[in-house]
Amino acid sequence: MGIKIRGTGSYAPDKVLTNADLEKMVETNDEWIRTRTGICQRHISAPEQACSDLAEQAARRALDMAGVAPEELSAIIVATITPDHVFPSTACLLQHRLGATKAFGFDLEAACSGLLFSLETARGLMSANAKYRYVLVIGSDKMSAVVNWEDRNTCVLFGDGASALLLENCPGEEDSFLASDLGVDGNSLEILSLPAGGSRNPASMETVENKMHYVHMAGRDVFKLAVNAMVSSCRKVLEEANVSIDQVRWLVPHQANERIMKAVAQRLPLEEERVFMNIGKYGNTSAASIGICLDEMKRADLINPGDYILLTAFGGGLTWGAILIRW
Ligand code: COA
Repeated sequence: MGIKIRGTGSYAPDKVLTNADLEKMVETNDEWIRTRTGICQRHISAPEQACSDLAEQAARRALDMAGVAPEELSAIIVATITPDHVFPSTACLLQHRLGATKAFGFDLEAACSGLLFSLETARGLMSANAKYRYVLVIGSDKMSAVVNWEDRNTCVLFGDGASALLLENCPGEEDSFLASDLGVDGNSLEILSLPAGGSRNPASMETVENKMHYVHMAGRDVFKLAVNAMVSSCRKVLEEANVSIDQVRWLVPHQANERIMKAVAQRLPLEEERVFMNIGKYGNTSAASIGICLDEMKRADLINPGDYILLTAFGGGLTWGAILIRW
């Protein structure tokens, strides 16, 4: 069973928030943000734009690229931690909006690793049953809705965006997905979480007063864990696929921090020129980031058929992983 990526799409809202803009909101400065993170600006949704609106734009672009109609979709998986609602799922809203009359769908929550977890899930469905011919995998997050804009430790890092990958099941063709390694560790709630709004701490005056509806993060711990986990997963998938790091055309890491990405590259090892980075323009767009990279790379003709591309991510949960694809 050969699963191929037939279309890519991405979307970032029009409004740009620069580091200079942030200087007026919290005690920070452009130089600190650039040197510590590599971020120069991020895109911020309009108040009326929610996760599904960002996702819809990315989805339409991926469908257009592939020349596939929404009615041909058999499934929609939306990776997000900022769904429009607790329920219905963003995938349901999107099914209706796109007119994907034959698709089922669901949201998948794995924070910044969401796109990789969704790709693995889609691949499992498609490999198990040929009736899943076209599956749309989306990463979409409106992080601006869950960031505390008074907390300089976190607000400078995140941005809004969406990306979509259209997968096609091509029996008899070579599979583009060569190997994967995914992991979770639920013993690290205090390192990276959004504490309230679920059934543990339902919304109340107290949760609002205590700012529990925002991202809470221990930045330094996340940094170290992220580098170790991504390097380990990358090594495992290369070994499983019997592909050497020298054969990899592009490393496409989740765009959390330029220094994290460079540390991963250094340890694999792989030259920085082969690491795709666009964090400067978008910040950390959570589940969307790897797909935004792939879409930019595809549209800029940076990917050729046969290229080995190593995707890797790390996020809240904790969650992490790597997937090796051959374009
Ligand atoms: N502007 C200016 N100063 C800031 C600041 C900001 N936006 N944010 C934090 N600081 C200050 C801190 O208060 C601290 O001051 P202190 O030394 O007086 O206490 C100082 O800068 C250094 O903080 P530290 O946390 O050691 O910086 P760092 O080099 O670890 O960088 C992060 C901080 C958040 C950029 C970095 O740890 C990181 O990127 N971690 C991973 C985060 C991440 O990727 N999360 C998402 C995972 S998917």
